[in-house]
Amino acid sequence: MRRDDFTAHPDLTGVRVLVTAGPTHEAIDPVRYIANASSGKMGYAIARAFLRAGAAVTLISGPVALDAPEGAEVVHVTSAEEMLAASEEVFARVDAAVLAAAVADYTPVRVADHKIKKSEGGLRVIELKETADILKALSAAKGPRVVVGFAAETDDLIAHATEKLTSKGCDLIVANDVSRADSTFGSDTDRVTLVFPDGPRALPLMAKGEVAEIIVAEVAGLLAERRAS
Ligand code: CTP
Repeated sequence: MRRDDFTAHPDLTGVRVLVTAGPTHEAIDPVRYIANASSGKMGYAIARAFLRAGAAVTLISGPVALDAPEGAEVVHVTSAEEMLAASEEVFARVDAAVLAAAVADYTPVRVADHKIKKSEGGLRVIELKETADILKALSAAKGPRVVVGFAAETDDLIAHATEKLTSKGCDLIVANDVSRADSTFGSDTDRVTLVFPDGPRALPLMAKGEVAEIIVAEVAGLLAERRAS
């Protein structure tokens, strides 16, 4: 069966999913942090679409200004480290994971326990270390689970997303050209390309809610393929 044949309104009753959303905040001192422009809208829309399909949803959310989707179990986290720990714990008991969070790639090596004073000079250079890659870590342990990642790119969208599909080891990358005003962090629309191991499928400009419905339908299709094989 081709993926396109699966219904746009799948029944995911009994299916458990993990969705991550929003940015992470990486503390510098008690009042300062490194963040990014993610609004969390895409991840929250995906959580709602899964709930509409009847799935049991655990939403692991970074700091956002959005209402919790009714019916979801919401786990609030702040840092990339917290998001990794929560994701690994929840991943053990789900059938699919969609990792839409914009996780910080770097975090300060040291977090000051007091507000750093200008006179100390400690804010001029902040030493950073890489965070763990949650998508890669979960994909390495996925077994029969379906894992979907995102790629936010400003250039060479398909090439970079295809490279991420391979390097992260997930089943699907939702590639978003964030150089476009109608498809960037905070917008209500997206123009994404779904990148599968057998090639890319470009979608037209649509509301984030519609993109979410398509992602849920694709996950349903991949789960059905797994069960049939
Ligand atoms: N991601 C993750 N953990 C990280 C960084 C990213 O799980 N520490 C996940 C995101 O949730 C997303 C995917 O990886 O699903 C791609 O994120 P992106 O920032 O586009 O890619 P990076 O791997 O950070 O690559 P680069 O910054 O070089 O584009």
